Amino acid sequence: MSAQGFSLFDLCASSLSKTREFEGKMDHFIYRQGVLHAEDVPLPVIAAQVGTPFYVYSTATLERHFRLFDEALDGMDHLVCYAMKAASNQAIIKTLAALGAGMDVVSGGEYMRAVTAGVPPERIVFSGVGKTHSEMNMIISGGVRQVNVESEPEMELLNIVALKHGVQVPITVRINPDVDAKTHAKIATGKSENKFGIPISRAREVYAHAASLKGLKIVGIDVHIGSQLTDLEPFALAYRKIAELTHILREDGHDIKRLDLGGGLGIPYSRSNETLPLPKDYGDVIKREVGHLGCEIEIEPGRLIVGNAGLLVSSVIYVKEGEGRNFLIVDAAMNDLIRPAMYEAHHEIVPVKEPLVGHEGRTYDVVGPVCESGDTFAKERDLANLHDGDLVAFRSAGAYGAVMASEYNSRPLIPEVLVKEDQFAVIRPRPTLDEMINRDTLPIWL
Ligand code: LLP
Repeated sequence: MSAQGFSLFDLCASSLSKTREFEGKMDHFIYRQGVLHAEDVPLPVIAAQVGTPFYVYSTATLERHFRLFDEALDGMDHLVCYAMKAASNQAIIKTLAALGAGMDVVSGGEYMRAVTAGVPPERIVFSGVGKTHSEMNMIISGGVRQVNVESEPEMELLNIVALKHGVQVPITVRINPDVDAKTHAKIATGKSENKFGIPISRAREVYAHAASLKGLKIVGIDVHIGSQLTDLEPFALAYRKIAELTHILREDGHDIKRLDLGGGLGIPYSRSNETLPLPKDYGDVIKREVGHLGCEIEIEPGRLIVGNAGLLVSSVIYVKEGEGRNFLIVDAAMNDLIRPAMYEAHHEIVPVKEPLVGHEGRTYDVVGPVCESGDTFAKERDLANLHDGDLVAFRSAGAYGAVMASEYNSRPLIPEVLVKEDQFAVIRPRPTLDEMINRDTLPIWL
């Protein structure tokens, strides 16, 4: 492959339009006049103002991806609940909520983020494997669309807390359908060996139990089998099982009127990804498998909405000639984007300044400054010939990027920036070193 194969593609696309068609999906990060832009803003302009590294998101891409899901479920009573765990900045939540999005939250913190951003509680779904007593208090006081219950002990505690508040909490039970999602082991959740949900074989028993608890009101069924699914078949299998279960539970007398079908639709992380299913194809599977049940449908996509709506932009610190390999040492590290270290994830890395056609590229190991060999973003990657100070962008970094960052090696959390057409705003500033350090407090004996 030529070193600049990827950017040549962009060159063709860039001069023609403001969006980049990528495996059927689009984003708004394209080269114009030889410089990578986020919508109408050249990335070097943002870098000059906020410094590197930083995350940058495109409003147009976020909105487009949300609408693709919304339209995919056209004709069905539905709510697209954005899985906030993928990226939970207030500005991102507000952007999506303004389009009518609901939110899928998995902690008291995410719940408060949604409420603070102005999302009405009747559009907030509370998921998660281990909801605590204080989280239950919080969501019952503040209001919630439904709680997706994951175990019987949790169901019993939720009942007690609900009765204490004198209310009935709407619930679904998360069913583990024992379906192989065919994704990375760390993000597969729908097999019986995974910690999530209740085995489908026990569903009738558990629903009977739930029905006996006066503080709970059964409204439906929940299922989520994993993340970054690149094939629709596992979804179809799981949803078919949920459709069968809906009939059975209705015969048992339960009022199943809502199906929460989870998230998980994958995105193309690289050129070599085969053509992936689009939200429309996914919507067709939903219609085919559960459309006849007359249920209200909820889905919880995270990655597909925000993944390709975000870049991580970093500067080259040094080019180091190793033995038989060149290291491109950049100022972003595993603490800023942990996906390659944690899931062997591939992120396309592109130079912000577009290489000229015919430019001779170079092969690099792209690494960060953290003191671990795992702090490697890419091995033997064909890139442009880069130098100290050059900017590079990691594509598809919007989902599970900023939210999974840490301050390991005492590297402050990096800023997040949101672009809308020709405007941009810092939506989370970089803390100063003092701010980072002053979060520690000393015991009296020191
Ligand atoms: N609903 C539930 C109950 C979930 O557990 C998840 C993701 C989603 C929805 C959203 O799934 P998505 O549409 O984003 O695939 N950190 C990993 C991904 C972890 C996903 C966890 N659950 C990564 O960087 O790949």
